[in-house]
Amino acid sequence: MSRVRAAPPATLFLPLDASSSSPLYRQLYSGVRESILSGRLAPGAGLPSSRALAEELGVSRNTVILAFDQLVAEGYIEGSPRSGTRVAAVPERTPRVKASPGPGPSARGKVIANSRLPALSRGESPPVPFRAGVPALDQFPYRLWSRLAARRWRRQPMLDYGEPGGYGALREAIAEYVRLARGARCLTEQVIVTSGSQQGVDLAARVLLDPGDAVWMEDPGYTGARTALQVAGARIVPVPVDGEGLVVQEGERMAAQARMAYVSPSHQFPLGVTMSAARRLALLRWASRAGAWILEDDYDSEFRYDARPLAALQGMDEDGRVIYVGTFSKTLFPALRLGYLIVPVELVDAFRAARAVSDRQSPTMDQAILADFLGGGHFARHVRRMRRLYSERQEVLVDAVRRHLGDRLEVTPSAAGMHLLAWLEPGVDDATVSAGAATLGLEAAPLSRYGLVRPDRGGLLLGWAGYSPEAIREGVLKLGEALR
Ligand SMILES: Cc1ncc(COP(=O)(O)O)c(C=O)c1O
Repeated sequence: MSRVRAAPPATLFLPLDASSSSPLYRQLYSGVRESILSGRLAPGAGLPSSRALAEELGVSRNTVILAFDQLVAEGYIEGSPRSGTRVAAVPERTPRVKASPGPGPSARGKVIANSRLPALSRGESPPVPFRAGVPALDQFPYRLWSRLAARRWRRQPMLDYGEPGGYGALREAIAEYVRLARGARCLTEQVIVTSGSQQGVDLAARVLLDPGDAVWMEDPGYTGARTALQVAGARIVPVPVDGEGLVVQEGERMAAQARMAYVSPSHQFPLGVTMSAARRLALLRWASRAGAWILEDDYDSEFRYDARPLAALQGMDEDGRVIYVGTFSKTLFPALRLGYLIVPVELVDAFRAARAVSDRQSPTMDQAILADFLGGGHFARHVRRMRRLYSERQEVLVDAVRRHLGDRLEVTPSAAGMHLLAWLEPGVDDATVSAGAATLGLEAAPLSRYGLVRPDRGGLLLGWAGYSPEAIREGVLKLGEALR
């Protein structure tokens, strides 16, 4: 990354006291020195020109030059007061340390702090094989996106606060999309635009749960959702998942009166199974009987390789029990931070209010650009193209694993999504293998990371969508080293 040259701060807080016996240049010198030593002004930070600072502080330019000359002489700043100065790297910095610790976070704050939801990236470096759920970022049509953005900024910049539920044209486009592509039953007003599905789950937990409420959670399941539910005070009930999805009967046995069930029915994360029609009906029936909510996370349903995508659970719901969570993180790119909820009509106001309290809204211009991207047919085209690409990449991965690691990893091609689960031989500890792979620069998350209950057999999550065939083949060979 190239380092950005620090611009001078817009203002510097330097209170000067004209009635003091200490001369103004001395007060200015002490103020800047103190700002540097306390860390308020970082090494490399630019300082305002002597003319600008003199004007701002209402002192003569000579006063500023005198102070800056002294700071330069003592090595606190470098450059020339007339042509520009910056904070030097040299001076010993003494950040203030509090003598006694403060009261610290609240009980809720401690739950949040201890949740330790990991970052999903490695700083600003590109993702490495086989981190799951990463789309092919190099294939994103960013030139087209920037043309749409430029057009919006030229013709129709929207700079005021917007609607907490989301920008109208985007909500309409999403409603149409989920009706047609996902078989959802949805009016535009039911769409709440969110900052990704993470915020969708967080809002649902805050609007619909009270502390102590039991929530069925697929186990193994998506850590991001489980953490948001836990932080809201939910009592997580880890319900097992079999070849047909979440085992509803088992959930009923463990906590029949739960308030909510979190499921990823199109492509269970991380196991990859699709929930059967019978299970979907059983889950909906239970929710109606128990007066519970179903949180349907439909994170990567667009990528289905065998047949048409299965309709969403939301479309089968007659009783308004389902809160549908969608995201553009997988179809477009995760940094966009745009997703959506489809909520029952009677909950719309509560969710809009929750969004307003949390952060008012998502950025209007990004929403508008996305609306244009959807409305112009670019989204459908991009998804179709990625579906073909991901299907090929999965084949590369499955072939390479079978050829080189067939005796150590068992893989079955996945009918959907962007990752598959490679089973280890019974008795092999997946966390150990994953840690070994990490030392070789790979990310292959262990299945055991995703459950509260230890799985009978270890496995590795292998994402393929975001990596070139060469990177996938090379990664598989390295994975072989880790396995040995
Ligand atoms: C199961 C599941 N849901 C949702 C998401 C997407 O989260 P977000 O929309 O907050 O980026 C992911 C991404 O890893 C996921 O694995």
